[in-house]
Amino acid sequence: MKNELSKNFFTGKRLLITAGPTVEPIDDVRFISNHSTGKMGYALAAEAEMLGANVTLVSGPVHIPPPENVNIINVQSAEEMFQAASKVFPDCDIAIMTAAVADFTPKVKVSGKIKKDNIGNSMTIELVRTKDILAELSKSKSPKQKVIGFALESENEIENGLKKLHKKNCDMIVVNSASKPNSGFGGDMNTITIITTEGKQQAFPPMLKTDCAVEILKTAATL
Ligand code: CTP
Repeated sequence: MKNELSKNFFTGKRLLITAGPTVEPIDDVRFISNHSTGKMGYALAAEAEMLGANVTLVSGPVHIPPPENVNIINVQSAEEMFQAASKVFPDCDIAIMTAAVADFTPKVKVSGKIKKDNIGNSMTIELVRTKDILAELSKSKSPKQKVIGFALESENEIENGLKKLHKKNCDMIVVNSASKPNSGFGGDMNTITIITTEGKQQAFPPMLKTDCAVEILKTAATL
């Protein structure tokens, strides 16, 4: 990056980044998950590392190469991600929560494989809420720590993003659209709006996720 102020800013800073989907088991062979590829979180981790930050990436299962010189903690479920992130958080300066954490998980994980002959023609899986990792960590943040959330929205993006910013006690939120082209899950591009608690709001055109990462870190350095 491109920006001397930010370069100095991140040297030696400890960053926690969550990324990717979580996987919630139904039985030993089936699960509930989502389409997150982890690209946004991995791009942020790589960029922050290049700026001299000490990065820990808590990652759900993804199919992209890990960034170099980053501590990676691989997890599967929302609960595992919560446990791992909670351990790292107290010693971090900035937490950036890009993960697409499952909001619900099966109440019971069945051992072995559910056989359809034992079920019949329809099946109900009871789901229970997972912990909101971002909201939980924000509750214990010290004045020196900054917490950055993401908001994936399919409608009323800014309004909903602002609600999440305040509800989850973040210092900044990155809103991205789940329904527009060049945004959200999967591709190499994202279309983001960065909102800070000071009321700063910056909307960017569609950009590569690596360029989004640069802009997010630039704003993070001003918090
Ligand atoms: N998040 C989290 N733990 C959860 C759910 C969400 O840490 N159990 C974090 C995400 O990593 C993201 C932010 O909260 O930084 C917002 O996630 P998002 O999926 O946009 O919203 P939700 O809070 O899950 O709400 P909804 O799905 O109803 O929009």
